[in-house]
Formats: sequence, structure tokens, C-alpha cells
Amino acid sequence: MAIFQLHICAAFLMGMILPSSALEDTFIAAVYEHAVILTGDTPRNVSRAEALELMNRNLDILEGAIKTAAQQGAHIIVTPEDALYGWVFTRETLYPYLENIPDPQVDWTPCNEPKRFGSNPIQGRLSCIAKENSIYVVANMGDKKPCNRSDPQCPSDGRYQYNTDVVYDTEGKFVARYHKFNLFMSEHQFDSPPEPELVTFNTTFGKFGLFTCFDILFHDPAVTLVRKLQVDTILFPTAWMNVLPHLTAVEFHSAWAMGMRVNVLASNTHRPSLSMTGSGIYAPDGSRAYHYDAESEKGHLLVAELDSHPSLSPTHPAPVNWSSYATTIKPVPKDGDFTGLIFFDEYTFSELAKEAGNLTVCQGALCCHLSYKMTEKQENEVYVLGAFDGLHEVEGNYYLQICTLLKCASADQQTCGQPVTTAHTRFDFFSLSGTFSTNYVFPEVLLSGVQLAPGEFQVLSDGQLVTHNGTSKPVLTVTLWGRWYEKDPPHPYILSGVP
Ligand SMILES: *[C@@H]1O[C@H](CO)[C@@H](O)[C@H](O)[C@H]1NC(C)=O
Ligand SMILES: *[C@@H]1O[C@H](CO)[C@@H](O)[C@H](O)[C@H]1NC(C)=O
Ligand SMILES: *[C@@H]1O[C@H](CO)[C@@H](O)[C@H](O)[C@H]1NC(C)=O
Ligand SMILES: *[C@@H]1O[C@H](CO)[C@@H](O)[C@H](O)[C@H]1NC(C)=O
Ligand SMILES: *[C@@H]1O[C@H](CO)[C@@H](O)[C@H](O)[C@H]1NC(C)=O
Ligand SMILES: *[C@@H]1O[C@H](CO)[C@@H](O)[C@H](O)[C@H]1NC(C)=O
Repeated sequence: MAIFQLHICAAFLMGMILPSSALEDTFIAAVYEHAVILTGDTPRNVSRAEALELMNRNLDILEGAIKTAAQQGAHIIVTPEDALYGWVFTRETLYPYLENIPDPQVDWTPCNEPKRFGSNPIQGRLSCIAKENSIYVVANMGDKKPCNRSDPQCPSDGRYQYNTDVVYDTEGKFVARYHKFNLFMSEHQFDSPPEPELVTFNTTFGKFGLFTCFDILFHDPAVTLVRKLQVDTILFPTAWMNVLPHLTAVEFHSAWAMGMRVNVLASNTHRPSLSMTGSGIYAPDGSRAYHYDAESEKGHLLVAELDSHPSLSPTHPAPVNWSSYATTIKPVPKDGDFTGLIFFDEYTFSELAKEAGNLTVCQGALCCHLSYKMTEKQENEVYVLGAFDGLHEVEGNYYLQICTLLKCASADQQTCGQPVTTAHTRFDFFSLSGTFSTNYVFPEVLLSGVQLAPGEFQVLSDGQLVTHNGTSKPVLTVTLWGRWYEKDPPHPYILSGVP
């Protein structure tokens, strides 16, 4: 394979035109965190004209961000889930916002042939924005597909409504369509497709795969895209509500990129009053750019360079055996364990009573080991090591194995696991590991102020999450967040037979 090496920035400066066969080692990625203009506080029936008016107002803002990204040399930009209309809907009130989105195999450039599949002004506009700015555009919109009695799954209103990601290439050609499979529980306005769709497309800067928001917690299609179809980069529109200590957007999405050893372009909606903020450009060895802003109401553009094929890069992290180190540790017997809740799951905790030491805490089949050395340990700050091995059952059913070091919300042990966003205690050293039964473990390090720590910690191939030189800010949590997919209950669609 002849790889035509070329530095992208240089190519732009020199005004060179790339031969279409040129393969690029790196590319410039953009994500835009968008403060969506919503439909209102309660669902409302509106006309198609009113629906288009609102979507175009949101698109005006997205178009500005896309133009800016293109001017900064971005090859591709991801915009958030629900970015055109928000989430305040019933099935019925969503209908005027939907378009019939064909299978991309039809070979269609909506900007050139806007009427080919009926009236599709939103698809036409997205395609033109991509074409005019010569950039791949990833957007999220609603698809409608009529159905009838010959299909036993057909909803009573005679149509499927899908939460859909669409992709247009630099010429405005429609290249990918993905229907979200794992709908969040409150998404009654949408239907799940009958099977998870594995959607990928190739470019001169790598192979891409798509999924949406809640999909990231489940095996399909997310893990299959990476492990089986071997995509280089995941495109991830989301409308993510942050949940401390383990499921804030920047923390979890960057950890997924590291655990899966893949690039992730995560674009979140921005609405701090609903805990929605946190977007990023994540590489397998850490975040390249991220944005977390719980204060302002403004959107934000991120642009950063990534490897086109991270698995071929000399800095690509080695595969990890997540239990290898932990299974060699002999726990020292101790007492004083207690239990506490994190996001409705009952953990076993043990307090870090000394400034430095070795600690083990076990639950079920999982034992978590921590070696640590604190500095500037504050009297009023309590840290615990926690273990959880069980099925999470609130807002989705999924099996977890988690080892976590975290700061309790106050000096009272009963507050361990409750949300807290600031800390003063630093760690000079930590090594966290666990006897995981799964090889899907996502390493999280979250610092005071809900900040990431790219380059300040490492995952060793024996499964230790370590920092040797300490982190730049005090620690909120250091976590190995494991998913044991084989122990999940069946997908609700398959369970009930109803979408
Ligand atoms: C929308 O209109 C339908 C009748 O066409 C009505 O049944 C429904 O309650 C209305 N929904 C809202 C939220 O007003
Ligand atoms: C409805 O059913 C008929 C007969 O079964 C079929 O020919 C037609 O294509 C169906 N229409 C849709 C929209 O599925
Ligand atoms: C992408 O390219 C690879 C070979 O480079 C090929 O095997 C694969 O089928 C292509 N995928 C798509 C979606 O075109
Ligand atoms: C990981 O390491 C453990 C302990 O050394 C070993 O038993 C297990 O087979 C390894 N797992 C894999 C997938 O290599
Ligand atoms: C923790 O364990 C390591 C070996 O696993 C040992 O070298 C170290 O001295 C221990 N630290 C403390 C404070 O006990
Ligand atoms: C830790 O710091 C020392 C001295 O500054 C440096 O030589 C070493 O490479 C650092 N280690 C890591 C893992 O960053």
C-alpha cells in the first residue's frame, strides 16, 4: 500500500489540490457543541412551515460553525443529536419536523437534485452546506417511513419515526444514514429499527462508523463497529445529560475512546440547566481537545488534528489485559468496609484512611486494588475506594464491573458517591486495577472542576491505571468502568417484540 504522505496544514497553505487517491496520515476534526433553540417547554402541534422555520434558525447557527471549521482546515465536522429541534415532543408533534431520508445507496446529492425524493429542504440545505464549504458534515435529524398492516410492528399511526444521523461528503453527496438503536427511555417520539445498523463509510483519511448518544452504553452497534468492522473514528452526535461521578460526557466519552482504542468525535448539545455540556475530540491515548462549560449559554467549536488510522500509529496504546495485574495481588485483610449508592447502584467502599498505602475492596467476583500517595490531603476531604459488580437497573439495564477511587461529597461517609465538582487533595501517585471478568473497561480520570487529564495518566498492558508524576489538579475520581456485555438482559425490543 503506497501511503502518500502529506501534512494537511501545509497542503492548505500551499493551495495544493490533493489527488483523489491520496491517503492522508492525519486529518483535522471538528465538533460543535450547540445551544439548541427548543420548540418550547411543552409539546405543541405546529405546521410544517413553522417546523422548518425553527430548524432553519438552528441550521443558521450550525452553518456558521461549519464555515469557521472549514476555514480552519477541518475535513469533517460533527453536530449534536437533536440539534435542529431539541427534545420536547410527542410522536405526533414531532411529525412536521421529519423528512423521508432514503438509503444512501441511491447515490444522491440533495444540493444538486433537491426534489428527487419529494420535498426535503433540510437534507438539501445540509448537503449544500457541506458542498459550499468542502467539508464532511455529520448531522442528526428525524426520518419518517410509512408502514401498514402487512407489517405487524407498524405503529398505529402508520409510520416509523427514527432518530437519524446523516453524513454528506465534500461534494454534498449523501454518504451515510444511521437510525439510533438504543433509544433513551424518554424518547417516545421515536421508534427503534428492528436490528442494530452497522453504518460505516471510507474516506482518504480513514474509515468512519456512526452511532448516537445512549448507544455508547451497549454492545451493538458500538463495539461491533470497532472490533469487527475496524473503523478508525467514531462519529458520535449526542444530547448527553451529565451524571457525576462516572457518567459526565467528557469523562465517559474520552474513556470509551481509550478503552476501545479508537478516535471518537463527540458533539453534545449545550444546555447547562439540564446538565448538558461536554464535547470532545478524543484519541486512543487521550483527549486532543474538549469543552465543558456549565456556566454560559453559548455554543462552542472545537478543532484538532487526529491520526487517520490510529491503530497504525507508533503511539497506539498496546492491547490491555484488564485483570492481569490485579490477579497477582494478595489482599491484606482489613475491616471497616461500608456500602453506599452511586447512581442507584450499591457499592462496597473502603476509606483511604492514611496518606499513602495499599487498599483492596471486593464485591461479587470483582476485587479492586489501589496503591496511592496523597499530598495536600485536606482534613475535610474523604476519599474512598469502591467496587461494584452487578446489573444497573435505572434508566436502562446494563451489567457493570467498576473499580473507583473517588472524593466523597462531604466528610460524612454517607455522602460517598454523591456528585461533587471540586477538590483540593492531590495524588502524587496512584495505581488502580481490578480482577475484571470482562475485557471492556473504560479508564476515567476526572479532576477538580470536571476537567480531564490528557497525558497525565496511563493504562499499562497489565490493566493498571497509573499516574507516576501526579495530576495537574486535585482528583475527583479515578475509575475503571467495566461493561460485562454478556450478562446484559436482552434488548427491550427483542424482549417485548414492540419498538
Ligand atoms: C395535536 O393534535 C391532535 C389532533 O390532530 C391532538 O389529538 C393532540 O392532542 C394535539 N397535541 C398537542 C400536544 O396539542
Ligand atoms: C402496504 O401494504 C401493501 C400490501 O401488503 C404493500 O403493497 C404496500 O407496499 C404497503 N405500503 C407501505 C407503505 O408499506
Ligand atoms: C472501505 O475500504 C475497505 C478497504 O480499504 C473495504 O474493505 C471496505 O469494504 C470499504 N468500506 C466501505 C463502507 O466502503
Ligand atoms: C489475562 O490475564 C489473566 C491473568 O494473567 C489470564 O488468566 C487471562 O487468560 C488473560 N486474558 C486474556 C484475554 O488474555
Ligand atoms: C504497597 O505495595 C507495594 C508492593 O505491591 C509495596 O512496594 C509498597 O511498599 C506498599 N506500600 C505501602 C504504603 O504499604
Ligand atoms: C515524570 O517526571 C520525570 C521528571 O520530570 C520524567 O523524567 C518522567 O518521564 C515522567 N514520567 C512520566 C510517566 O511522565
